[in-house]
Amino acid sequence: KQIVLVGAPVDEGAGQRGCLMGPDAYRTAGLQETLQELGHSVVDHGNLSPAEVGSLTPPNRILRNYRAYVAWTRALHQKAAELGEGPGFPIYLGGDHAMAAGTVSGQARAAAALGRPLFVLWLDAHSDFHTLDSTASGNLHGTPLAFLCGLPGFDDLLGSPLEHTLKPQNVEILGVRSIDDAERNLLVSHGVGVSDMRRIDEEGIGTLLKPFLERVRAENGLLHVSLDVDFLDPSIAPAVGTTVPGGATFREAHLVMEMLHDSGLVTSLDLVELNPFLDERGKTARLMVELTGSLFGRRVFDRPTRSF
Ligand code: ARG
Ligand code: MN
Ligand code: MN
Ligand code: MN
Repeated sequence: KQIVLVGAPVDEGAGQRGCLMGPDAYRTAGLQETLQELGHSVVDHGNLSPAEVGSLTPPNRILRNYRAYVAWTRALHQKAAELGEGPGFPIYLGGDHAMAAGTVSGQARAAAALGRPLFVLWLDAHSDFHTLDSTASGNLHGTPLAFLCGLPGFDDLLGSPLEHTLKPQNVEILGVRSIDDAERNLLVSHGVGVSDMRRIDEEGIGTLLKPFLERVRAENGLLHVSLDVDFLDPSIAPAVGTTVPGGATFREAHLVMEMLHDSGLVTSLDLVELNPFLDERGKTARLMVELTGSLFGRRVFDRPTRSF
C-alpha cells in the first residue's frame, strides 16, 4: 500500500494538554519504519496547521476552545477530502479526538464523490456523541461523532450544514464503558451501533466485529477506523487523559486489527488521544504503532504449519 501520514497536533479538544505531541511520538516510536518493513511505501506530509477563521460567537459558555475546534475541523476536512479521493491510504496522527470531526467528514465527502458509502468503526471507551448543548464538560473531543452523524448545532464547523453525513447505522462503536446519560439517549434515538465492554466479555470481540465487516463488504463501503488510545486498558496504554478501567486487552486489540487487515476493507485511519506527556517510557506510543502494524499485515504465521 501507499500510505500517507498526516500529523494533526490538536489538543484543544481534550481536558488536559499534551496530545499535540502525539504525531511526533508516533514518528519517534517508528511508525514509518514499521510500515515500510511490512512492504508498504510511506510518505509523511508533516503536521497540519489550523485554518484561519473569522469572528465566531460560541453557542454557549461552557465549550472550551470552540474556535480552535472550528479551525482544526476546516483544515483537516480539506486535507482528508483531497486524500480520500487519491490512491494513498491516509493515517491521521492525533491529536485529541476532536480532530475526527475534520478527518472523517473529509473522508465522507471523498466517499460521496466516489459514489460509495462510508462506514466508521469507532474504537473507544467513550462514544463522543455529545451535541454542543448536551456536553457537561465542554471538552469538544466528546462531540465529533454527533457532528459527523448530522446532529444539529454544528454549522459553524464547516461554515454550513454538513453535506455528507454518516448514517448512524453505518457507525459501530466498540469498547465503550463510559457514556453520559445525554449521549446514551442520543445514541439510542439515532440507532448507532454500540457494543460495550460487557458484550465484548460475553460474546467476544471478533464475533461482534464480523457482522459489521460483512455489511461493509456487502454494501461496497469504504471503512474508516478511528482508534482512541482509551479503547485499550490503561494498564497497557496509560498515555491518555481519559483512562477508564476495564478496556480492551492486548490480544483483543490486536485481533481487531488483524481481522481488519484480513478484511481488506479499511481505507483510512485515525490514531487519537495519545498524550505522550502521560506515557511511561513510550510504551503506549509503541503499542499504538504495533497495533497499526497488525492493521497493515503483521502476523506471526501466514498459515498453519500443518493440517491434521
Ligand atoms: N463524555 C465525556 C465528556 O464529554 C468524555 C469524553 C471523552 N472523549 C474522548 N475523546 N476521550 O467529557
Ligand atoms: Mn474518543
Ligand atoms: Mn459533494
Ligand atoms: Mn475515549
